[in-house]
Formats: sequence, structure tokens, C-alpha cells
Amino acid sequence: MRVALVVTGVMVVILGVWLWIGIPRTQKELYEDRCSACHALADLSRRPSEELVTIIETMRHRNGAASVISEAEAQEIIEYLKSSN
Ligand code: HEC
Repeated sequence: MRVALVVTGVMVVILGVWLWIGIPRTQKELYEDRCSACHALADLSRRPSEELVTIIETMRHRNGAASVISEAEAQEIIEYLKSSN
């Protein structure tokens, strides 16, 4: 009985850590995770801010990225890309 409880506890902790590691927590991680879902991560470091917004809107509305990137996430990604330019 005790052993079963300990084993279950350990498994819950392992599952929790595994889920926690897989979740993007910073804007950078969000960008890297979402924007590499369909193609290699694009190098956008030289693109002007207005173009970044257009690219991300195009991905979501024309290329189908809206299914993996929500409006709120898109804003986070745009913010990250602007700040890293
Ligand atoms: C649902 C799939 C999908 C996701 C997710 C996605 N893209 Fe794309 N992306 C495409 C397709 C399709 C193309 C057009 C074909 C190609 O060039 O490979 C493309 C092309 C591009 C291009 C080249 C076109 C250009 O205007 O220079 C860039 C840059 C780009 N994506 C950036 C991004 C960024 C940034 C994200 C994250 C916000 C993203 N993509 C997420 C599907 C996606």
C-alpha cells in the first residue's frame, strides 16, 4: 500500500515536470515553438517592425497558423521579434 502510494507520487511528479518543460514560458520560447511548427524558424532579425506584423498576420490568416497560434500568442511573438530587432 505504502509502496503503491510512493510510486504513484513519483509518477505524478515526473509527469508534472515533463509537462512543465514542454510549455513555452518566455516570448522567445513561444516564438521558437509556434513558428517552427510548419517550417524551419525564419531569421527575422533584419525585418522592419511593420513587416513583422504583416508576416505574422499572413501566417495566421493565409497559411493556416491560426490553428496553432492564438491572437494573444501572435501579439507576444510580435512583441518579442520587435524587441530583438
Ligand atoms: C500553419 C503552418 C505555419 C506556421 C505555424 C507558421 N508558418 Fe510561416 N509559412 C507557412 C507557409 C505555408 C509558408 C509559405 C511557403 C514557404 O515559403 O515555405 C510560410 C512562409 C514563411 C516565411 C517566408 C515568407 C516571407 O514573407 O518571407 C516567413 C518569414 C515565415 N513563414 C515566418 C513565420 C513566423 C514568424 C511564424 C510564427 C508566427 C510562422 N511563419 C508560422 C506556414 C506556417
